[in-house]
Amino acid sequence: MAIIAVLNPHPGVGATTTALNLLAAIARRGQRPLGIDLDPRGDLTRAFGIRAPLAEDSVCGFFAHGQPLGDIAQISRSGVVLCPAHADLAAVGARLGKGIDVVTRLRRALRKPNAVTGPVVIDCGPGLGVLALNALFACDRLVVPVSGEEAARDGAGQVERAVAALEPVLKGKLPRHYVLTRCDVGSVAATDDATERLAERVPRAAICAARIRESDELAASLAAELDIFRHAPESAGADDYLALVDELVGAGLT
Ligand SMILES: Nc1ncnc2c1ncn2[C@@H]1O[C@H](COP(=O)(O)OP(=O)(O)OP(=O)(O)O)[C@@H](O)[C@H]1O
Ligand SMILES: [Mg+2]
Repeated sequence: MAIIAVLNPHPGVGATTTALNLLAAIARRGQRPLGIDLDPRGDLTRAFGIRAPLAEDSVCGFFAHGQPLGDIAQISRSGVVLCPAHADLAAVGARLGKGIDVVTRLRRALRKPNAVTGPVVIDCGPGLGVLALNALFACDRLVVPVSGEEAARDGAGQVERAVAALEPVLKGKLPRHYVLTRCDVGSVAATDDATERLAERVPRAAICAARIRESDELAASLAAELDIFRHAPESAGADDYLALVDELVGAGLT
C-alpha cells in the first residue's frame, strides 16, 4: 500500500492543501486512506475538523510513549481516518534525537504486516527535522509541492539532496513527484519559466504534468476546514487535484 510523504522544507508552498486534497481524492476513488499530521501546528488536523485536546491522543503519544497509531487515529466527518497532531509535537520532536532508531520509528510502525489497509498520506511541516526524517524514511513515494518562489525551488533541491543521502541507506529508489502549485494559468510563460528553473534543481522527469493553479476556492476551502471536493467540487482546484491523483496512479500509486 502506498505511503506518500508531502514535504517541502520551505513553508507555505501548499503542502497541507495538497495532503488534504490527496486524501480526499483517494477516498473518492473508493479507498480508505490514512492521514498522518506531523506538523505541530496541526493544520491538516484542523482541516479535517478533528481535535486532539490531549497530547497523548495525538502523534505525540506515538513518538513519546509508543502508542499504536490505531489507538490515536480518529475518523473525520468526510470519512478519512487521521492520526492528529498536537502543539506539543515540536517539543517531543526536539527531545527525540536523530539516531537511526528514532528516524525509522514511523517506518517500522507503518510497515508492520497489516498495519494499514489503504494509502497513507503524511503531511510534514516546514524544515527537515526529525519528524520530516521519519516521513522520509517511512514513505515509498514523495510528493513535493513547489510554489513559484525561488526559496520553494531551493526547498525542492534540499529534498533531492536528502533523498540522495537516504537511498543508499534504504538500498532502494524513492520516487519523487514535484508539483507546481499556486500557478498563474494566465501566464504560460511564467509557468514554463517556473518549470525550467525547477528542472535546474530536480530531475525533469520527476516534475508532474499536473499543476495546481492559484485558486480562491482552494484558499477558502482550507480556511473553511473542508477539502476542495466538499467546498467547491466544480472548481479548478478540484480538477487539478483529481488530475494529480490520476497522474500518481499512472505512475504506480496503489
Ligand atoms: N493553489 C492555491 N491557490 C490559492 N491559495 C492556496 C493554494 N494552495 C495553498 N494556498 C493557500 O496558501 C496558504 C499556505 O497553504 P498550505 O497551508 O497548504 O501550505 P503549507 O506548505 O502546508 O504551509 P506551512 O508551511 O505553513 O505548513 C494557505 O493559506 C492556503 O489556503
Ligand atoms: Mg502545512
